[in-house]
Amino acid sequence: MAQSPQDSSSSATKTPSEHESQSDLLSGLPRREGWPQPLFQYKNFWFWQYQAETIIQLHGSFCARPDDIILATNPKCGTTWLKAAAFSITNRTRYSLSSDDHPLLTRHPQELVPFIEIPWDGDLKYMDTLPSPRLLSTHMPHSILPKSVIEHGCRMVYICRNPKDAFTSWWHFQNKLLGATDLDPAFNMFCEGFSATGPFWDHCLGYWKESIARPDRVLFLKYDEMMAEPVETIKKLAAFLGAPFTNEEEESGVPKEVVRLCSFEKLSGLEANKTGLVYVGGKWALDKSLYFRRGKVGDWVNYLSEEMARKLDCIVKEKLRGSGLVF
Ligand code: A3P
Repeated sequence: MAQSPQDSSSSATKTPSEHESQSDLLSGLPRREGWPQPLFQYKNFWFWQYQAETIIQLHGSFCARPDDIILATNPKCGTTWLKAAAFSITNRTRYSLSSDDHPLLTRHPQELVPFIEIPWDGDLKYMDTLPSPRLLSTHMPHSILPKSVIEHGCRMVYICRNPKDAFTSWWHFQNKLLGATDLDPAFNMFCEGFSATGPFWDHCLGYWKESIARPDRVLFLKYDEMMAEPVETIKKLAAFLGAPFTNEEEESGVPKEVVRLCSFEKLSGLEANKTGLVYVGGKWALDKSLYFRRGKVGDWVNYLSEEMARKLDCIVKEKLRGSGLVF
């Protein structure tokens, strides 16, 4: 399934801060400063410049296929785990989970499942070259997905996370990637809904509502539940992906093998994920280790005051009221 050849010989780490000047595609879109990079508002969501540009271009050009599987997330909510889990489940007859040459042992999960809007080499047509069935990922909100994804009824898996942990993880990631933003202003912007792919809650709600309306098309997972019940989550994911575990597989512990292979401890300890760079968008190279920090539920407690936690809880509760989605 989806593979992306990478040239890991480049030495320079380039980041979105080196992006060229704003293109015409964004003219007329609201632009707001506050984070190290300005964000652009497109159809009620905020994006980095590069994301906004590619998302707009994809609308006319992305050709979904009926058997595409789309892994959708808000940043820092478990994308890396979901990529690893979906890849190992759907490829388990091709790559034995216990073999020494499983791709996850030598390739970063981000390399194995490409982002639709930030393909590794920056060529938005790259997706067309991948064989079916494609395993793809996106940070796009549901309402902004290219039309063909909806028309083909592609299966989608969404994973969300407790907003306090998602913010904490995002703040660390962004500080390392783009430069430091103080915690208080960063938190206040997040609470206003002003963060990349935010408002955070609207992003979750879009996929949540779709998962209720079309449960056979959208599976909605929570990072916190996945961490508490990894084997159950893996089984649910496999069944949804059309690759349920057989009785023999269950008896011989295959779901546990997937959990072990995709665990934070296993993946973050691999040389392939500790050193080197992941290429995104044809412009940037990110340290592979940036995708692995603590991998814990509740780490927010080490950064947010009780008052901050109460404030975000209140906002999220209010925004999600009546939807049935709770954190
Ligand atoms: P923390 O910053 O809280 O540690 P994403 O993959 O969406 O970018 O999310 C990154 C978050 O998921 C980080 O959270 C990271 O440590 C954690 N993570 C990465 N790989 C993981 C895995 N295999 N299992 C659980 N958490 C993982």
